[in-house]
Amino acid sequence: FIRSFSSGSIQRSAIKNVTIIGGGLMGAGIAQVAASTGHNVVLVDQTKDILKKSHSSIEKSLQRVVKKQYAEDPKAGEAFMAKVLSQLCTETDPAAAVKSSDLVIEAIVENLEVKKKLFASLDKAAPKHTIFASNTSSIPIKEIAVATKRMDKFGGLHYFNPVPVMKLLEVIRIPETSDDTFNKLLAFGKAMGKVTVNCKDTPGFIVNRLLVPYMMEAVRMVERGEATPQDVDTAMKLGAGYPMGPFELTDYVGLDTCKFIIDGWHAKYPNNPLFDPSPLLNKYVAEGKLGNKVGEGFYKAKK
Ligand code: 3HC
Repeated sequence: FIRSFSSGSIQRSAIKNVTIIGGGLMGAGIAQVAASTGHNVVLVDQTKDILKKSHSSIEKSLQRVVKKQYAEDPKAGEAFMAKVLSQLCTETDPAAAVKSSDLVIEAIVENLEVKKKLFASLDKAAPKHTIFASNTSSIPIKEIAVATKRMDKFGGLHYFNPVPVMKLLEVIRIPETSDDTFNKLLAFGKAMGKVTVNCKDTPGFIVNRLLVPYMMEAVRMVERGEATPQDVDTAMKLGAGYPMGPFELTDYVGLDTCKFIIDGWHAKYPNNPLFDPSPLLNKYVAEGKLGNKVGEGFYKAKK
């Protein structure tokens, strides 16, 4: 968040009321940053219990931001935090949540049928002007958009974890996305303090198309007995300047998420060796070692 702001590129956008569907790590992060940058945010998930957890993770993350940004003026920090939280409400009924929405961002489970079903119902409930966007990391935007009758108002907004820290936002257009919609999405990204890049609807867009095969090749190096995860991570941090090595990053993103992405691409493009599945990754996932979120992946998570 702080780093995002340092880009100095915050701009006004036509989008004021934002609905985020999905209160997981990404949805909560997007909701936090959208509310922090003056948008009215409704965060939606299936149960009040899930939303309670999302809200408390937002509060914790906001506290980190405020502690740093308002180190000299804790009172102003408290006021900022109260203002942000007042611009954020939660809802369990997606149809009710989109009634006055300018933009809906979907960040739910990576399942095409579930996403299509959601958007088909939102298409009926949302006003005509509402723009729809998916935060999918690996499903083609167009395959989701076909569930609606507003493909001209459909695009992708792909955020990076941790959303309050990572400066980038990939803005994806499909051939049907109108210039007006795309420009509004770009302006919204900038209004969130992000640096935007324009992406086509290709597998993994820009970042994941490069990052996921890189992470997979790191796993394959270990499978081939060429290096240990520790040495690969040290090498990439100190030799290439990455903030995390590929194994730390896989633990951070989630081994199940990486497996899901690579399995989906492999099924679609079986002849591309960059998308080959990895027995070692599959073994870890089968053992439930999904990464930091469960306390263990390639490494045991730090307390
Ligand atoms: N909320 C708010 N602030 C946070 C935060 C959070 N969840 N997580 C970290 N921060 C802040 C910290 O408070 C700290 O702030 P400061 O610099 O102002 O003091 C700053 O971020 C750095 O955090 P730490 O000191 O705890 O740790 P690091 O310096 O190691 O940074 C990191 C942590 C930012 C996660 C860094 O390691 C990093 O950039 N890692 C790579 C992350 C990455 O590649 N993400 C993309 C993954 S791919 C993806 O998301 C796409 C998906 O589709 C798969």
